[in-house]
Amino acid sequence: MYMDVLAAALVLFLSLVLIANKKEPKKLFGIYSQPGKWYFIKYPLILTLLVVRRLKFYIVGKEGLLDVKELDKKQELSEHPLSFDAVFFHGASQEGVYLVAGAERHHEGVINGLMYIQHPDFGLLKSLKLPHTTLLEDPESILAGKEWAAEGLRFTPEEPMKRWDVAYNGQMRSSDGKLVQVEMQEKWVSDMPWFLYELELPAKMLARSIAREPWSEQLFETLKEANQTHYEQMGFMEGTLKVDGKEVPLKLDSFRDHSYGKRNWSLMHRYIYQMFYLENQTRIVLGLISQPSTGSHYEMGYVVHANGKIDPIISCDLRLWQQGESGLPTDELCFTFEAGEHIYECKSKYHKTVAHFVGNNEQVKMYERFGGCEVNGVKGQVISEWNYNATSGKFDLDQYTC
Ligand SMILES: *[C@@H]1O[C@H](CO)[C@@H](O)[C@H](O)[C@H]1NC(C)=O
Ligand SMILES: *[C@@H]1O[C@H](CO)[C@@H](O)[C@H](O)[C@H]1NC(C)=O
Ligand SMILES: *[C@@H]1O[C@H](CO)[C@@H](O)[C@H](O)[C@H]1NC(C)=O
Ligand SMILES: *[C@@H]1O[C@H](CO)[C@@H](O)[C@H](O)[C@H]1NC(C)=O
Repeated sequence: MYMDVLAAALVLFLSLVLIANKKEPKKLFGIYSQPGKWYFIKYPLILTLLVVRRLKFYIVGKEGLLDVKELDKKQELSEHPLSFDAVFFHGASQEGVYLVAGAERHHEGVINGLMYIQHPDFGLLKSLKLPHTTLLEDPESILAGKEWAAEGLRFTPEEPMKRWDVAYNGQMRSSDGKLVQVEMQEKWVSDMPWFLYELELPAKMLARSIAREPWSEQLFETLKEANQTHYEQMGFMEGTLKVDGKEVPLKLDSFRDHSYGKRNWSLMHRYIYQMFYLENQTRIVLGLISQPSTGSHYEMGYVVHANGKIDPIISCDLRLWQQGESGLPTDELCFTFEAGEHIYECKSKYHKTVAHFVGNNEQVKMYERFGGCEVNGVKGQVISEWNYNATSGKFDLDQYTC
């Protein structure tokens, strides 16, 4: 017995020495951490930590932890200079209408805001300041404290997690450079569940990403600091769009999100975030994010079924560095992922891409991309956002000018 224990201890000791002497793998492209020699210990450790932190959530649910009335409204900005409060809306129809509109509030009445509409009758329309997005918040809206409103854009929460108003009233620029007068009035409605990232992303996926990174006090400090509140919800938009006096109904499948906390865009290496709107009313969100200070390759997303049931994505074979790492976004993506014990095979192809900067900061560039997709044989539409930091490659400003 004694000899057995001694032998086991010796084997364990020798294995640890062997592992300790192995070299750590190099970061791919100098950015993307690979599982290192201690990954097999780091993964269960961080997974346990994440699960323990979420125990209360597992017991009482998110409605037990959070009050949707406090969440789904305009937030007070903290003292911090990077404090922000952002809402974002997408819409797509199977007839080829795409809408992207958002507003990121900052201190001093600055809103990074934008809107694009691609419509078969009107072509591509974009808000006037694009490709820059720094707008001034409407003074009345600052006083009223309810809505996000700036230079024609207006997003108003009406009923938490149920109803928003999305409106645009002012000039927009069409693709031939002409100015047109636009009035858009949309009701955003949903009875689908909302998805809170910090609690509902699968702990296993987060643990995998964190276990791949080299661990340091700095990493955990940054992870703790970087807590943003971010939630998303699928829904529908219905209303009207009037361009130079010509009015058409506008009915879209839609996605929205709301995030607040602190955000420093310069920390982001790049990301790809896509939403799929399938003909059979299944919706899919898939994001790949590389923010090296907190994790060089996070994968996240979920499937929302037509009945509102959500299956988080638990694994995905798409790798950021294989898609447009040099700075030129690729025109199609084909990949597979697993959610709710199903494997999904997904092809998407973009047919329109527009580009802008975040605020007036020409270091950080966004591509909004519209296209079609096919998931396990079911067709649909895709809206995809590709973010690059200048260091990811030289920007060709004429590429995809909008
Ligand atoms: C971030 O975490 C701190 C404490 O850990 C908490 O007080 C704060 O509310 C969190 N902020 C957000 C935006 O979730
Ligand atoms: C944001 O991050 C960049 C890059 O790390 C850093 O240089 C800058 O100081 C940060 N900005 C603020 C306001 O902390
Ligand atoms: C993004 O670009 C800025 C300016 O070039 C740089 O300071 C920052 O380190 C870059 N961030 C990352 C994550 O590469
Ligand atoms: C819709 O299509 C998706 C993707 O092929 C599939 O997973 C889902 O089950 C379909 N939904 C219905 C209600 O048939």
